[in-house]
Amino acid sequence: MSSDDIKPAHVVWHDGHVQTEDRSYLLGQRPITVWLTGLSASGKSTLAFALERRLVDIGHACYVLDGDNVRHGLNKDLGFSCQDRNENIRRIAEVARLMNNAGLIVITAFISPYGDDRQLAREIVGVENFVEVYVNTPIEICEARDPKGMYRRARAGQISGFTGVNDPYESPGRPDLTINTSIASPSECAGKLLAAVIARIALSEGEKRQTFGDSQ
Ligand SMILES: Nc1ncnc2c1ncn2[C@@H]1O[C@H](COP(=O)(O)OP(=O)(O)O)[C@@H](O)[C@H]1O
Ligand SMILES: [Mg+2]
Repeated sequence: MSSDDIKPAHVVWHDGHVQTEDRSYLLGQRPITVWLTGLSASGKSTLAFALERRLVDIGHACYVLDGDNVRHGLNKDLGFSCQDRNENIRRIAEVARLMNNAGLIVITAFISPYGDDRQLAREIVGVENFVEVYVNTPIEICEARDPKGMYRRARAGQISGFTGVNDPYESPGRPDLTINTSIASPSECAGKLLAAVIARIALSEGEKRQTFGDSQ
């Protein structure tokens, strides 16, 4: 059951006096969510944090929501069942939307293996703000890397429901960008990602000239 299902009728949205456009103008960027999806060890976290570093270095306000990090706090009550994965993604998408509304560029790094969950995330964040990046690294490469020993433990039967081993990964049908980290260095991959993101976050001349409303 989602929180929407139990929201009482008397809970009504209260509009503020600052629009997302105001924050966008203030920060000089279009706030988007760059949604990285791919197998464990495909390179999502490495690329997310590299992209964040590069964006900050050129003056953009952004934040990484990383799968493992978020499970230390906000989502520490969730496991890896289909239902919990769904709730994990729903919460992340809601947080990404809030951060976008606050003007930040958000980069998410979650396996997000199910197409339906990614579609839900796209709807929550908003189609126009959602940039899906498929970190499409062959499973043999991911398994050879195995930086956290997870594939080894999954193959040994010590982890159930591990994506790519005993749980499916549904590849995105039409991602905005695909990156194969087995044929380029982390730096090259981050550069490709940065170029795609810069093209999406640039404000038009009209948006740059937008003035703030009068406040009394
Ligand atoms: N081109 C590349 N891009 C990203 N990671 C790479 C690349 N080449 C090798 N790697 C290595 O692959 C591993 C990816 O791990 P990680 O980023 O934690 O993956 P994920 O977050 O998808 O589970 C790291 O050890 C990283 O150094
Ligand atoms: Mg990671």
